[in-house]
This record gives sequence, structure tokens and C-alpha cells, in this order.
Amino acid sequence: MDRFIIEGGVKLRGQLAVSGAKNAALPAMAAALLTPEPLQLSNLPRVRDIFTMKKLLQHMGIVVTPSDFPPDGELELRAAQIARPEAPYDLVKTMRASILALGPLVARCGQARVSLPGGCAIGARPIDLHLKGLEQLGAELRVEHGYVNARARRLRGSHIHFDKVTVTGTENLMMAAVLADGETVLESAAREPEVEDLARLLRAMGAEIEGEGTPTVRIRGVSRLAGARHRIIPDRIEAGTFLMAAAITGGELEVTNCDCRHLQAVLQQLEQAGVAVKEKDAARVGVSGPSRLCCADVSTAEYPGFPTDLQAQYMALMTQAEGASVITETIFENRFLHALEMVRMGATISVEGRQAVVRGPTPLTGANVIASDLRASASLVLAGLAAEGETVIDRVYHIDRGYERIEEKLRSVGARIRRVSP
Ligand code: EPZ
Repeated sequence: MDRFIIEGGVKLRGQLAVSGAKNAALPAMAAALLTPEPLQLSNLPRVRDIFTMKKLLQHMGIVVTPSDFPPDGELELRAAQIARPEAPYDLVKTMRASILALGPLVARCGQARVSLPGGCAIGARPIDLHLKGLEQLGAELRVEHGYVNARARRLRGSHIHFDKVTVTGTENLMMAAVLADGETVLESAAREPEVEDLARLLRAMGAEIEGEGTPTVRIRGVSRLAGARHRIIPDRIEAGTFLMAAAITGGELEVTNCDCRHLQAVLQQLEQAGVAVKEKDAARVGVSGPSRLCCADVSTAEYPGFPTDLQAQYMALMTQAEGASVITETIFENRFLHALEMVRMGATISVEGRQAVVRGPTPLTGANVIASDLRASASLVLAGLAAEGETVIDRVYHIDRGYERIEEKLRSVGARIRRVSP
């Protein structure tokens, strides 16, 4: 397994371009199942999860061109026929977002056999709301031997109210409803930019859908969808990670190819922490890390609130801030694993249930640490950049799932980071 070796203490300086959003690309790829015509996607990030989704769709019989991954991040996906409407355990276990195949398969084929994704390091990650919504659309579900077996002659529109805001639950049911008979209303829908991006793609394919980005999405089912061309939105979580990498090293960075509209909660939080933020245009934002960061509490929330996917990175930042910061994680029940690794580097963090209190500034010293999930690994990179001495991060396959060549990007702005393959 690859590992990163980081020599901390360098202020990052320069420009970094953001890749396409993994969490917009995954539902967009699954949407190819909804039509026999070709779907052309661009600005796909070259990250592991995209390769996994490609493999999953090819397993179902989808033709993906080119079959390897082109440097320009463009793919054509064509589901002329779906030979195997199933998502097997050995693929789903490596990427829970495979569950995004369930809605489109039932809508297109009238059947699906998808492995239950199971939990992960950050929580139980149930999919009960996905299944409840599908049943409301008329699907008959049987859950056995670790698989969801779904059947439906034709889905029919329904009024679905989510008990909890769920990003992939909203996406799954949007994709199921676009081919259902009649109107579907999704109440308490997720408002994430990635959900909006999927709605734009589905509309380009001929779906009748409105209200995306608000808590109520309305969909009028159509009989068939066509192919389309679609460019994936920029990755707001990668952008936020880079902004915090600049702030924690006291550097000066301009992040480009992003969408500043998607970063408002993050930029406001960084300003509260004393970071100088300057939106240069719709796709460029500059930050300069202060000589002294100040503590600022944060509570994660569904969009447009502060994203849970930047909570770990923000915790690393607060270890260098003056005073005590209270970080509240409201989305997942076990998303503080990174705190224990930061404490080993010298941080002062106490965790109590959904709250972590970070007291700073504490000088961090390089150490051997282990990544537990995608965003925790990103936070350990940030801690390593700020630490005195050498940090070795194991299991960086986690980070490769959602960040494209992160070590090359960070090296291009001065970081001393290298990948070591055993
Ligand atoms: C999406 O996961 C993202 N993944 C996650 O990003 C992100 O952290 C999360 O949304 C929250 O923003 C993708 O988009 C592929 P949820 P998702 O359903 O959809 C509970 C990353 O690092 N819930 O919005 O799985 C759930 O347990 C990943 O890129 C149910 O109870 O998250 C959680 O507490 C990590 N029942 C809350 O809702 C359900 O049926 C929000 O989960 C579904 C969810």
C-alpha cells in the first residue's frame, strides 16, 4: 500500500486548479443507465471511485469509451442493453456510492440486485430512506443474503418525504422518478450542488424536473430519456481542502477552476478564523494564512451549511489557532477518528460524542499516522504540512479515492510531499 512522506514547515505559495467533483461524477455516471443512448461526460476527476464506478457499469454491460481513462477526463457511457442489472458485493464493498445504481436500474429494467453497502469508518450509513422511497414508487423489495432485490413493472409517481436529508438518497430517487408514471414530489430533498448538477444532467436527457437546490423537488415522469453531453461541476471539497492547506501553513494560494458560490460557508468560516479571503472571480479565490489563526467554533450541516466533508481538515487547522474551538459533527455519528491521529502529532483535542474541542496553538511534530477514510486522510496531510519534521501517512488509497494526484498538486505549490510505493 502506498504511503505519503511529508516534511512539514513550508508555506504553500502559488495557484492550484480544482478537478471535477467526485460526488457529482458518480451519480452522473449512474444516470447513463437510464437511456440506451450515449452519455458524454467531461471534467471527470481521475480518482479511484470513478474507476470503480466505471468497472461496475461495465460489469452490467455498459460500454464505456475509452475503456481505460483518458487524461482529459472525458468518457462516453452507453447502456444500449443492460445485460446484468446487478451491483455485486465485491465492487460495492469498495465503494458505497454503488448504491446509486439501484434507482436507475429499477426505473430502466424493472429489476435490480444490489449489494447492501454496509457501514464504513464514519458511521453505519444505512440506506433505509433509499429503500422506503423506492417502495413508495411501487417497487417490491426483498432484502436477503446481503442484497437488495428490487422488482417493479413500472414505477409510479409518489409524494416522498425524507425523514432525514440524504444526498445519495435524493439522487437515487430522482433517477428512479424520471421514468415513473406520473408526478413525484421529493420533500426535504438534499440541496447540495452535486444534486443540482444531476438534475441539470437529467433535464438535458429529457427529464421534466424542477426545484433542485431547494427542499422540494418535483419530477414528472417521461417514457424515455435521450443521451446528452455534460460537464461535471468543480469539486468544492477539494477546493476547501486546498484553501485550508494554505491557511495552516501560513501561505498564499489561489484556487482556480472552482465555483465560489459553492464555497460560501467555507469562506465565511475561514474568515472567522482570521484567514484573509478574496474571491477574485466566479471561479477563483485567493487566501493568505495569517501569522496567527484564531479559534472559531463550527457545526457541520447539510448544504448550504459547513460541509461534513471538510470537518476533519478544519480540525487540523484549529490545532494551530489561538484558543479553544468547538467542532460539532451533526451528520455522521463517528467522524472524529482523525482526532486521535492528530493527538499523536501533538494536538490537544478532546472528543465527547458529537463534539470535539481543539485547544491551540499546539506545535505539531511529524509522526507515523494511519488514514481511516477519505477526508480523515486529507486532514492528516494538512497536519503533516504544518508539523515540524517528517510525517508518514499509511493507507493513502483512501485519499486516492477522492483526490486526483494530491501530492503532485501540493508539490507544485511548494509542499515537500512524496508518494512511496512499497
Ligand atoms: C454523501 O454521502 C457523500 N457521498 C458523502 O461524501 C457526504 O459526506 C454525505 O453525502 C453528506 O454530505 C457521495 O455523494 C457519494 P447522506 P451519503 O445519505 O449520501 C443518514 C466523501 O467523503 N441516512 O446524505 O451516503 C446517514 O447515516 C463522502 O466524499 C440514513 O439514516 O450521505 C447520515 O447520518 C463521505 N438513512 C445522514 O443521513 C438513509 O437511507 C446523511 O447521509 C440515508 C442516510
